[in-house]
Amino acid sequence: MTIRKIAKMGHPVLRRAARPVSDPTDPEIQRLIADMVETMMDANGAGLAAPQVHEGVRIVIFHAPADADPGAAPEARAPLTVLINPEIDILGDEMEEGWEGCLSVPGLRGLVPRYTHLRYSGLDQDGVPFAREARGFHARVVQHECDHLDGMLYPQRMRDLGNLVFESELPRLMAAARDDHLRERSE
Ligand code: NI
Repeated sequence: MTIRKIAKMGHPVLRRAARPVSDPTDPEIQRLIADMVETMMDANGAGLAAPQVHEGVRIVIFHAPADADPGAAPEARAPLTVLINPEIDILGDEMEEGWEGCLSVPGLRGLVPRYTHLRYSGLDQDGVPFAREARGFHARVVQHECDHLDGMLYPQRMRDLGNLVFESELPRLMAAARDDHLRERSE
């Protein structure tokens, strides 16, 4: 397994639609998946899409650990998942804003609206079809990673670029927002 170089925002591979995988059992595809897992773990990411490692194919990997969304529904969590040729069906029109980062947009965080409930389907690492329901953080990470397969990065989904900030400033921003909220409540 190899840790691969991650493409950064502006690289053409991140702007193109990726092509479907015809044979998931192809040794090159299997090697790519193993490298993606290694690369994501090394970078401490929640997810990774193949175009981020310069491969224009429809493969995403992700995990939604329990500590990302404590107390959430079981569908908000997911083990390490390999999803090939994904399809997403949105369930209900509810959306929620949440802070996201991306290994291809290092150092930044943005407030992004995402659907809160969906069903996704595709092939697993062995080429076997599967489907799953997702909510909360799990639904968010799936939407974020699948956007990569259509040449889309999270800032393009943002409603207000005023909420695109440096990661290092986020604690300060959250503290200020909390103070403002307390002030409003006491007035
Ligand atoms: Ni990303």
